[in-house]
Amino acid sequence: MRILARDLDPQQTYRLLTGVVVPRPIAWVCSQSSDGVLNLAPFSAFTFVSNKPPMLGINVGRKAGRRKDTGNNIHATGEYVVHIGDATLVEAIHDSAVEHPPQVSEVALLGLETVASEQIAVPRLAAPPIAMECRLRHACAFGDTGSEFLVGEVLVFHVRDGLVRDGKIDSVELDPICRLAGPTYATLGPTVTLRAIAQTAKTVMPAAPGT
Ligand SMILES: Cc1cc2nc3c(=O)[nH]c(=O)nc-3n(C[C@H](O)[C@H](O)[C@H](O)COP(=O)(O)O)c2cc1C
Repeated sequence: MRILARDLDPQQTYRLLTGVVVPRPIAWVCSQSSDGVLNLAPFSAFTFVSNKPPMLGINVGRKAGRRKDTGNNIHATGEYVVHIGDATLVEAIHDSAVEHPPQVSEVALLGLETVASEQIAVPRLAAPPIAMECRLRHACAFGDTGSEFLVGEVLVFHVRDGLVRDGKIDSVELDPICRLAGPTYATLGPTVTLRAIAQTAKTVMPAAPGT
């Protein structure tokens, strides 16, 4: 099957891409409005973009042409927490995507416990195994729908005790939840560990004849 991208409308493209880019990790984002309402929502257009300083990117779309509460809050305060949820939290993650007016806190609605953050005013959730305190560094709009790629610097990583071994996260122990298309989620399933890639100097290629 061949699909010409220019024949697709934004919704069709979204449906296709969310089935193509799989599985996606989920940034479970806590942000706070200027009035102090604590917001929570999942974002699976999520990756890291730098390791010095550590920076994470999430793509926040628009709803009926308007910025989502998360986008509004992050622009207003510049601060937010990105959590990584495990399999025990899948329903809470899913339910936190339900749209509510900005004055309604998904954190309160879902009865989630919070803990004060160290370097930002936005508290973090107590339950997720990983929480990262972030400060907004870049906001970049892409395409015609007004979605924005928000890049934040991680100021503090909070990782559940026992999950870090030799500086690395034990992924199996973390048991992260990820998103497929629509309301379908997946866990890690079987993993495969191959030999480490040798860190040797690059082979110098012989010059091409005549150069
Ligand atoms: C697992 C999951 C992942 C999602 N990922 C994204 C995403 O990457 N970008 C986005 O704009 N919306 C995403 N959504 C939809 C938002 O979570 C949803 O629009 C939410 O109501 C936004 O909340 P807010 O208005 O409080 O910011 C996702 C929903 C789910 C269930």
